[in-house]
Amino acid sequence: MQITSLDEYKKNYQLSIDQPEEFWAGIAEKFLWKRKWDKVLSWNFSEPNIKWFEGAKLNITENCLDRHLEKDGDKPAIIWEPNDPHRDSITLSYKILHEQVCRFANVLKKNDVKKGDRVCIYMPMVPELAVALLACARIGAVHSVIFGGFSAKSIADRINDAACKIVITADGAFRGNKQIPLKEVIDDALIGCPTVERVVVLTHTRTPVSMLKGRDIWWEDEIKLVDTDCPAEEMDAEDLLFILYTSGSTGKPKGVVHTIGGYMVYTGYTFANVFNYQPEEVYFCTADIGWITGHSYIVYGPLSQGATTLMFEGVPTYPDASRMWQIVEKHKVNILYTAPTAIRSLMSFGLEPLNGIDLSSIRVLGSVGEPINEEAWHWYDKNIGKGNAPIVDTWWQTETGGIMISPIAFVTPTKPCFATLPLPGVQPILVDENGKELIGNGVSGNLCIKFPWPGMLRTTYGDHERCKLTYFSTYENLYFTGDGCSRDEDGYYRITGRVDDVINVSGHRIGTAEVENAINMHSGVVESAVVGYPHEVKGQGIYAFVIFPKAHEDETLTRQDILKTVTRVIGAIAKPDKILFVSGLPKTRSGKIMRRILRKIAEGDTSNMGDTTSLLDPAVVEEIVLKRNTMDKLELKGK
Ligand code: WTA
Repeated sequence: MQITSLDEYKKNYQLSIDQPEEFWAGIAEKFLWKRKWDKVLSWNFSEPNIKWFEGAKLNITENCLDRHLEKDGDKPAIIWEPNDPHRDSITLSYKILHEQVCRFANVLKKNDVKKGDRVCIYMPMVPELAVALLACARIGAVHSVIFGGFSAKSIADRINDAACKIVITADGAFRGNKQIPLKEVIDDALIGCPTVERVVVLTHTRTPVSMLKGRDIWWEDEIKLVDTDCPAEEMDAEDLLFILYTSGSTGKPKGVVHTIGGYMVYTGYTFANVFNYQPEEVYFCTADIGWITGHSYIVYGPLSQGATTLMFEGVPTYPDASRMWQIVEKHKVNILYTAPTAIRSLMSFGLEPLNGIDLSSIRVLGSVGEPINEEAWHWYDKNIGKGNAPIVDTWWQTETGGIMISPIAFVTPTKPCFATLPLPGVQPILVDENGKELIGNGVSGNLCIKFPWPGMLRTTYGDHERCKLTYFSTYENLYFTGDGCSRDEDGYYRITGRVDDVINVSGHRIGTAEVENAINMHSGVVESAVVGYPHEVKGQGIYAFVIFPKAHEDETLTRQDILKTVTRVIGAIAKPDKILFVSGLPKTRSGKIMRRILRKIAEGDTSNMGDTTSLLDPAVVEEIVLKRNTMDKLELKGK
């Protein structure tokens, strides 16, 4: 299944275009099916309706666990590194992981979770999180993992959207020197969630929690009541595996739906190829399982390939900026997959944290989540890879399920800041605003995909129309990614960032409309507009322009009030970096906010505002620029 030369890549790529069904059937053969498919692919992008491996029966956990037991039962499946470096790390062999998954799957069954039921998971980065995901998959329940940084209200919205029956959580989570009271947040969320019948609570931080009689039960107690025998439920290839909520350009997050067969084949294939994983190697992806990267490349991709996947509970800078490198040294990590924001943040501490640390185990480096800037690329290459570990800059999305455009380690010649070439089976095209295909090299436009791949989303939960509108209606018969992209003279792809109203903050997608809605919930706010601006560490920061007539009474306190409001409504991850109080917003005569102008102001590029003649009140722009410059001066003084 692994491609080892450029020539082989080219051949595989050509085959995947000429005979996609044969190509993917060949890959799928390498997995374990209870029954083979009747048809590899049927599709149209107009409804859309996409089916891979129709008629096939399988259970993904047999692929991720059972099939490795005979040969690799004692091989480490998960190595867990705790937040506190003084605590011991934990290694779960495939055999032990299998046992734990089966046991917890029986706990779910005992608590009346059935095939097709939705399970909300809100947990710290501990091995039990991976166990919870796999236990759901074992019995055919659909998991919906929510990242620990979301607020009670965001959780409630997601639980209600999917009508979850059960919640799996922990007393709390450690993140650096902070503790997050997960169970307490869940208690607040569940006030408005009538569908939830049970809450399973794992003991982790030992913070006091309230346990509601008849609803809340302890993980540790439950697993004692069941055995480890749990046959894998027979699932259809197109049955739901999970829902993962993601922000878009409208106010409400959507539940991206992935199904079992295609997702398994795609994440397994891309994992094995992109990272060139070799048996016995230790692979470390620093993402959180609350995001797609963790689903695909901490859990399902690596485990389906029998790999050893390292899970880290903490943050790269705790207790200090050498932590990530110490983990690499301690566990002899061979493949490190992280985000540009982490690289930039560690880079800012200089080379001192690397002193005396042996990074010689590193063979492959990866980057994901946002465009990597040239400086960070070279720093990563020189200081971590010592110039001889290829950097795979992997472009993909929650919706694509797995990596789409990326170098294949040791195969594709890399180029700083370029995601390089599409993986086999991926057919990208660039189009202009009118949907006209841009042919040839040296062009840039909007990135679309013109043919289905097995890992793609199938729908948005409970609202198929929304899926169609968001991804398949902008351009006819194309999947629209929302990203801008160029193709250089070598045919290499370079992703330039979002072209819609989505901001990429530290590799996390945040919709501007969502943040605006949250800000507007503060009682004093009349209106707001949010845009992204370049941020040294986060990639993009959140800039909010807010009309708040009484703000002048105490601007600092008002800013804090607004931040509190956003934290309550969405979660700490959506807090604006800058808030500017203004008396009006630049609007067209038809009342549309001209974000282009606000973006320029936020970037500090106020020399040329472009055409402002269509504005209702052009004077407003001058006022905002003036205010912004005053705020900048105050900030400089404050430093
Ligand atoms: C951006 C994360 C440039 C892009 C896997 C995409 C990237 C969004 C890259 C998806 C990359 C991801 N280079 N940009 N290598 N990888 N992006 O859904 O804008 O959290 O649309 O999935 O991140 O973010 P998501």
